[in-house]
Amino acid sequence: MREQWSRGGFLLAAVGSAAGLGNIWRFSYVAGENGGAAFLIIYMVAVIFIGLPLVIAELAIGRRGRDDAVATLRHQAPGKHWYIAGGLSVVGAFFILGFYSLIAGWALKYFIGAVDGSLWAPVHSSAYGAYFKAFIARPYEPLIWQLLMIAITTAVVAAGIRHGIEAANRLLMPILGLIIIALAVYSLNLDGAEKGLEFLFSPDWSAFSRPAVYIAAIGQAFFSLGIGMAIFLTYGSYLDPGQSIGKSACIIVLGDSLLAITAGLAIFPAVFAFGIDPAEGPELAFITLPGLFSQMPGGRFIGTLFFGLLAGAALTSMFSILEVPSAYLARRMAWSRRKAVCLAALLSFLAGLPPALGFALLEDITINGRGLLDTYDYAVSHLLLPTGGILIALFTGWGWGKSRALEASGLLNSPLGKVWLFSLRYISPVVILAVFMSA
Ligand code: PFF
Repeated sequence: MREQWSRGGFLLAAVGSAAGLGNIWRFSYVAGENGGAAFLIIYMVAVIFIGLPLVIAELAIGRRGRDDAVATLRHQAPGKHWYIAGGLSVVGAFFILGFYSLIAGWALKYFIGAVDGSLWAPVHSSAYGAYFKAFIARPYEPLIWQLLMIAITTAVVAAGIRHGIEAANRLLMPILGLIIIALAVYSLNLDGAEKGLEFLFSPDWSAFSRPAVYIAAIGQAFFSLGIGMAIFLTYGSYLDPGQSIGKSACIIVLGDSLLAITAGLAIFPAVFAFGIDPAEGPELAFITLPGLFSQMPGGRFIGTLFFGLLAGAALTSMFSILEVPSAYLARRMAWSRRKAVCLAALLSFLAGLPPALGFALLEDITINGRGLLDTYDYAVSHLLLPTGGILIALFTGWGWGKSRALEASGLLNSPLGKVWLFSLRYISPVVILAVFMSA
């Protein structure tokens, strides 16, 4: 018998999967680089019209298939080649987890540093650039933090759906929720916080005419929800047959967006209150913010909470990414869960070596002007996830059969069923293709 989530446990694990580094580290710097409010509006539209239908589709396919991504797509469309989309997800997961765990490792290093005080050693806030650069250029240290994060993830996922992933999310998610609210309240009470709110909520209209903002916003919607890589398909394969997919998907999408916006409320008011440029790029969380924490009243405590949040949120996402190839390997090789999870974790670590060494041994390698970490991030958010998303949309909208899709999603008798299918058939593929061709 396939394991099954408890109802509440599934929602916690699914929101935990969606909410991660993407909502905090990536959301803040991409929003910062792309004009704030205008980006936020396009991002929300993409989340509702492309993200939500895809989450429903993945959950419906997964629950109907009750197997890993490859087997499910094979059985749901016998004799067709849709299972290749499942294979893409399995392979993609190694690369995503490979670079994701690297940044998660940085977060862990900063968290431990904040706790033991070593993070606060650079006495001047401007010293954090050098601090961060020296850290990532060390040949082994970042790898060790990355391995630690992978080891924790492996232990949790190997313990199973209920006793591993669900239990860990039950513990972590409430703590993470409290921390992020506390950080936002603190930040909003700083003098000069209004400028941050203005940046996040009152749009610079000229940004709407820049195609790059659309590309960034749609890429962020994919990354932040984690759609297109069979993550929800795989989590959905353990879903209670009586649980509503439509409602669950709304909760997941809402939870993910709220977490991203609350993270924005925690970060931008503080950034503006201290007169910092929000368009600092990926280093925002690791250079700018620690500099800020070191100057703020109570900043060391706030900084400890922040990096704890970052590391914890990364973990709950890493569980779901690792589950995709683990489920595949366990079935394909007829291995125990434990053995499959260990091999999947090892392969992910290996796939992540190039970006992990991209600031040290391999620092001279660039592809189209991007370093290796940026290349991974770009390839994942702009190629891999959108390609997976188009395939899932096309399969559900055209390949699966209308009545099967509506029935599996529980939307057969709902007027929303038609809107859902229309979005998957036409809107998602066309919009995704158009935006990414122009990129
Ligand atoms: N959605 C999660 C995040 O925003 O951090 C995790 C994630 C899953 C990121 C899949 C990227 C990805 F391709």
